[in-house]
Amino acid sequence: MEGFSSVTSTTKRLEGKVAIITGGASGFGESTARTFARHGAKVVIADVQDDKGMSICEELGSPENFSYVHCDVTSENDVKNVVYFTMRKHGKLDIMFNNAGILGNLDSSIVDSDNENFKRVFDVNVFGAYLGSKHAARAMIPAKTGVILFTSSNASVVAGESPHSYEVSKHAVVGLMKNLCVELGKYGIRVNCVSPGAIATPLMTKALGVDKSIAEEILSASSNLKGMVPTVEDVAEAALYLSSDESKFVSGINLLIDGGYSTTNQTYTKMIKNFLSK
Ligand SMILES: NC(=O)c1ccc[n+]([C@@H]2O[C@H](COP(=O)([O-])OP(=O)(O)OC[C@H]3O[C@@H](n4cnc5c(N)ncnc54)[C@H](O)[C@@H]3O)[C@@H](O)[C@H]2O)c1
Repeated sequence: MEGFSSVTSTTKRLEGKVAIITGGASGFGESTARTFARHGAKVVIADVQDDKGMSICEELGSPENFSYVHCDVTSENDVKNVVYFTMRKHGKLDIMFNNAGILGNLDSSIVDSDNENFKRVFDVNVFGAYLGSKHAARAMIPAKTGVILFTSSNASVVAGESPHSYEVSKHAVVGLMKNLCVELGKYGIRVNCVSPGAIATPLMTKALGVDKSIAEEILSASSNLKGMVPTVEDVAEAALYLSSDESKFVSGINLLIDGGYSTTNQTYTKMIKNFLSK
């Protein structure tokens, strides 16, 4: 299995931990499930892609440790069910990774934006993350420990490159993360976000209508950090850090994984160079 043999028991960073990963059947969620499994965690994948979710669990190993539960994060019953399932099966919940998300339509102008699309994006990206946090917190508060992690996006800090619905939903996720960090700190629960820049997952390649290699060419050309292509593993590694005891005093951060893209804006310098070279 992918990368499975390279971690020895002494370097397993999530040994004995129990994690739920929403959107775990694809992209960042899938990669994080594999990484968490490699580091000794018991993983429950919660998604709506049943076949994919089940086959990833089979690959991960023993059904005692790896499970798939159908869960539409916009349904409170489904979210409640996946948390109950996890508590019944493993007796605790250490990590709730609210990662499921959709991009929605690529509406570029507010004047003809589709209202139903806006509501749908919020339903999955914000309400889904809220429900995941609510039911995870109910399990974690009595234990006085836990990690709640979200996938936001560098759209939470860079404006003008995503549709309004997506942009606003990802800001809202960061707001939820910060408020929960304050509320849940007294119970020893840490709350953080990972915020990737564009990475060639099915969400991104479908939106662009190109295959992975073309998407990666575009990403390399537009990247601030040269010499590498961002991958789902980069996000999984950040999720691993924020979920492990190595980050035991880290709470309330929005960790950007975009090679510094959101830090740069060289438009002015480029314009001057273009102008002077005429
Ligand atoms: N790929 C990128 O460029 C990028 C950049 C920044 C942030 N993100 C965010 O990363 C997260 C993961 O996206 P990805 O790029 O891995 O995409 P992906 O499409 O590969 O994976 C998303 C997963 O979420 C699941 N999902 C969608 N709606 C759901 C629902 N209602 N209930 C349960 N599961 C549902 C899908 O079935 C899928 O398995 C999302 O929150 C996305 O907004 C993606």
